[in-house]
Amino acid sequence: MRTPIIAGNWKMNKNRAETKSFIEQVKDFSVDGVEAVLCVPYTDLAILKDSLPSQIKIGAQNIHWADNGAFTGEISPLMLKELDVQYVIIGHSERREMFGETDETVNKRVHAAYKHGITPIVCVGEKLEEREAGKTKEIVKEQTEKALVGLSSEQVKQLVIAYEPIWAIGTGKSSSAEDANEVISYIRSVVADQYDQQVANEVRIQYGGSVKPENIVSFLAQSDIDGALVGGASLEPNSFMALVKGAK
Ligand code: G3P
Repeated sequence: MRTPIIAGNWKMNKNRAETKSFIEQVKDFSVDGVEAVLCVPYTDLAILKDSLPSQIKIGAQNIHWADNGAFTGEISPLMLKELDVQYVIIGHSERREMFGETDETVNKRVHAAYKHGITPIVCVGEKLEEREAGKTKEIVKEQTEKALVGLSSEQVKQLVIAYEPIWAIGTGKSSSAEDANEVISYIRSVVADQYDQQVANEVRIQYGGSVKPENIVSFLAQSDIDGALVGGASLEPNSFMALVKGAK
């Protein structure tokens, strides 16, 4: 049995006042049987540590592989640990496309997260032209396999993978639930080939890309979809709570 996980990815949104107001509105919220996570800008993490109720977990949007050193603009796993960060998004397509993230750096960040007891949410997904060229499976296979290099079975069992087709991010065009499920069950088979079926049965795989309260139930009804990584619709408290409820 895999526990569904809804993670909000605020991306580069919300100042301190907006973050406090959001927390005020979700402070009494909880849903049994669903894990809820907020992945916020670094500047908001301390506010979450001080005031987010414990039923919602704290997530970051990136992590560096070194504990400290000359890495201007990066954030250390130790710094995230100090702020009670439990999850971290790694390899989001925006980082791959705009900031030079590669499968190799994704893998280094994944190892650093585990070293410090932070659970990675590893993003994979194809571009529109790759989908149209029939390359979706090839792309997600390569990204998944390379992200997992060197991990133990136990680590992979705890991992969260987010399948986010890039053409569906922030566009209002979500993948159909059936199509998303087909790719996600393929990703599970990639994990089974790299590890074994038991590991693949335990890894949680989310869908991401224009998920909202209106369509969350259809995604979660699919056999292999274990939750969602949500951008725009996670920014508003009622919408975030509706997403978490919808995953039950
Ligand atoms: O990581 C979440 C994401 O990229 C999807 O964004 O706004 O389409 O839900 P959005």
